[in-house]
Amino acid sequence: MKFTVAIDGPAAAGKGTISRAVAAKFGFAYLDTGSLYRAVGVKALEVGRGVIDPVIAAQLAGSLSQTDLDRGDLRTAMAGQAASKVAAIPEVRAALLEFQKTYARRDGGAVLDGRDIGTVICPEAEVKIYVTASDEIRAERRHKELVQAKPELTVAQVLNDLRARDDRDAARDIAPMKPADDALVLDTSDMDIAEAIKQALTLVRSVYDGT
Ligand code: DC
Repeated sequence: MKFTVAIDGPAAAGKGTISRAVAAKFGFAYLDTGSLYRAVGVKALEVGRGVIDPVIAAQLAGSLSQTDLDRGDLRTAMAGQAASKVAAIPEVRAALLEFQKTYARRDGGAVLDGRDIGTVICPEAEVKIYVTASDEIRAERRHKELVQAKPELTVAQVLNDLRARDDRDAARDIAPMKPADDALVLDTSDMDIAEAIKQALTLVRSVYDGT
């Protein structure tokens, strides 16, 4: 059985939480595709001592290991920016393409979250959701996640960071962040996470017959 749920949208809109809930409910596998770009970005920064070299980034993308994906520093704002930068390099995207495509159509169903799942990785996905929320709400949510580890961080800094990343992700030539024509746009600005999950589950249930 092949069944793909594509969940795209800007940073900190709630994609990850919704994706994990959908995967758990229906017994699907889950891939956070942002972590692939984060792992490449962080490693490319390390190798280049703060400077990302596109050729090296592409090589790293072609040889990612589980250890790279298990690093504890992938969720930082710096990793997010590095991810967004390497994600604009066509050779990096090309190196990660096949793995994601195969994952999407694996037997037993899969949920993938990212920026281009419904448009590029799996245009044939049975369910496509584009999760979004206002910039300010997303910044507040992400700030709550990051402030424990970095108490000096302000909401304004997080907001700037998210906007810079969104602009780059939406403006790049290759696989820009945008809703697929047939995606349901789920604006979670005025929803708590339970409501957002409920709406996503209802949509999947309306398409998935469980066989
Ligand atoms: O989902 P995230 O915030 O962990 O993603 C980090 C960055 O990776 C994001 O700013 C852009 C890039 N990305 C991408 O270009 N395509 C994806 N499918 C997933 C992430």
